[in-house]
Amino acid sequence: MKVDVLLGLQWGDEGKGKVVDVLTPRYDVIARFQGGPNAGHTLEFGGQKYVLRSIPSGIFQGDKLNVIGGGVVLDPALFKAEAEALEASGHPLKERLHISRKAHLILPTHRLLDAAGEAAKGKSKVGTTGKGIGPTYTDKISRNGLRVGDVEREDFDALYRQAKERHLAMLRGLMTAEDYTAALAKLEQTEPEWMAGVDYLRSFTLTDSEHEINKLLKAGKSVLCEGAQGTMLDVDYGSYPFVTSSNTICAGACTGLGVAPGRIGRVYGIIKAYCTRVGSGPFPTELMDETGDKLCSIGHEFGAVTGRRRRCGWIDLVALRYAIMLNGVTDLIMMKSDVLDTFETIKACVAYEIDGKVVEDFPYSIAGADGQTAPNVKPIYTELPGWQCPLSQMTSEDEFPEEFNNYLSFLEEELEVPIRIVSVGPDREQTIERYVEDGLTENV
Ligand code: GDP
Ligand code: IMO
Ligand code: MG
Repeated sequence: MKVDVLLGLQWGDEGKGKVVDVLTPRYDVIARFQGGPNAGHTLEFGGQKYVLRSIPSGIFQGDKLNVIGGGVVLDPALFKAEAEALEASGHPLKERLHISRKAHLILPTHRLLDAAGEAAKGKSKVGTTGKGIGPTYTDKISRNGLRVGDVEREDFDALYRQAKERHLAMLRGLMTAEDYTAALAKLEQTEPEWMAGVDYLRSFTLTDSEHEINKLLKAGKSVLCEGAQGTMLDVDYGSYPFVTSSNTICAGACTGLGVAPGRIGRVYGIIKAYCTRVGSGPFPTELMDETGDKLCSIGHEFGAVTGRRRRCGWIDLVALRYAIMLNGVTDLIMMKSDVLDTFETIKACVAYEIDGKVVEDFPYSIAGADGQTAPNVKPIYTELPGWQCPLSQMTSEDEFPEEFNNYLSFLEEELEVPIRIVSVGPDREQTIERYVEDGLTENV
C-alpha cells in the first residue's frame, strides 16, 4: 500500500485539520509526522469546534488508528491537557492513539529558551509560538534530546535533571540576573504539571511506530500522513530564518514516520483561496490596507494557538509553484473559498518583479534588512472578477457561479495540478469534491 501525504503549501493554517477529518473515513491510519504544539488544527462538525495541537486530526471519525510519529516534538503537559479535554468531550483516545518512542520531548526549559532566544533577537525575532519548538529540535540535532521512549527508563528523572541543568546554564548566559530569577520561578510553577504529563504519557501505547506503520502497510492498510505548518515555513526551503525548525515538506513524512520515499502515493497540497502568515518574515502579497483587514475579519484570521492576528494577502502563485515542486503535489485542495464571496475583484500574484526583472522561480531571499519583504520585491498581479454570491450553502460544483469556476480554472492552469476538493465553510459538511467521475484518486 501507498502512503498519502497531506500538507500545507503556504505559511500554515491553510485548513489541514478540516481536510484530514474529512478524508479520515477513507484511510485506516492517520499519522502526524513533524511539528508539535505550535500547530493548531481546527475541525468543526455537529455544531462543535475542536482545536488539535499534537493529536492527529483523524481522532474523530470512526475507530481509526492515530499515530504521533517520531518526527514530532511532544510537550507532555500540553498533550495531557489536550487529551483529557478530548476524553471529557466524549472522544476516548487511549485505544486509538499510539505515540512513537522516537518523538522528542519538549521540556519546560525549552519553552524558556524559546522565549529567551526571541528576546535576544529583538526586532529580528521570528515571532515563534513560544512552545519551545526550536530549542527542542536543536537538542535533537545536537544529539542532546530526550525522547518519549526515555520515559520508560528507570533513570528518566536523572536524564531530565541533566538536561535541565544544561538548559539553565544556557539561560544564565542569555538573561539578566533578574530575568533568570523570574524564569526559575516560572519553572518551579510549570515543572509539576510537566511531570504529571510524563506520568500520563506512560499510560499510553508507546511504540516503534516505524515498524508498526510498515507492518500495517504490508498488511494492506492505508495511511494518511498529516503535516503541520506549511511549506514556506520549512527549515530548509521556507523563508529562512523566518521558519519553523522541522521539515514540513513531503520528505518530512519519510523521515518523520520511517516510510521509504517509494511508498509515497498521493500528495494533497492544501491552499487557502488567498494567503495568510503569522509571525515575522517576508510576505510579498501582504495587504496592509482595508482589503487585508476585510480578509482578516471575514476569514476570522486569528491564530488557533496564540490568538495572534494573521497577516492577510492575495494568493501567491510564485510561492505555490515552488511548494508544488518541492512536495510533488498530485492534488490541490482549496480552502476558505467563501471568504472571497463579497470581493468585486480578486488578485493572484503570477510573478515577482525584482529590481525591474520578472522572476517566476521563488528566489533565495525575499527579505530586506528588517526581515520584512524587501522593498525591491513587488508582486505582479492578474486580476479576476469576483463571483459576489455566497458559496457556503452550495453542495455541488454544478451550483458554482461562472466567475468561481473561472478562478479555479485559472489556478489549475497556472499551477498545473487539479483542484480536487473545494471547501466553502469551516464545517465538515461544507466540502465539495470535484472530478469524482474520472477516477483521479484511488483512495479518495
Ligand atoms: P490548519 O492549521 O491548517 O489546520 O488550519 P487552522 O485550523 O489553523 O485554520 C483554518 C481556519 O479556517 C479554522 O478556523 C477553520 O475552522 C477555518 N476553515 C477551514 N476551512 C474553511 C472554509 O472553507 N471556510 C471558512 N470560512 N473557514 C474555514
Ligand atoms: P499549523 O500546523 C502558522 C510559525 C510561527 C513563527 C514560525 C516559527 O497550525 O498550520 P515555531 O513556534 O514553530 O518556532 O514558530 O512558524 N508557525 C505557524 N504559523 N501555522 C502553524 O501551524 C505554525 N506553526 C508555527 O508563527 O512565525
Ligand atoms: Mg493552524
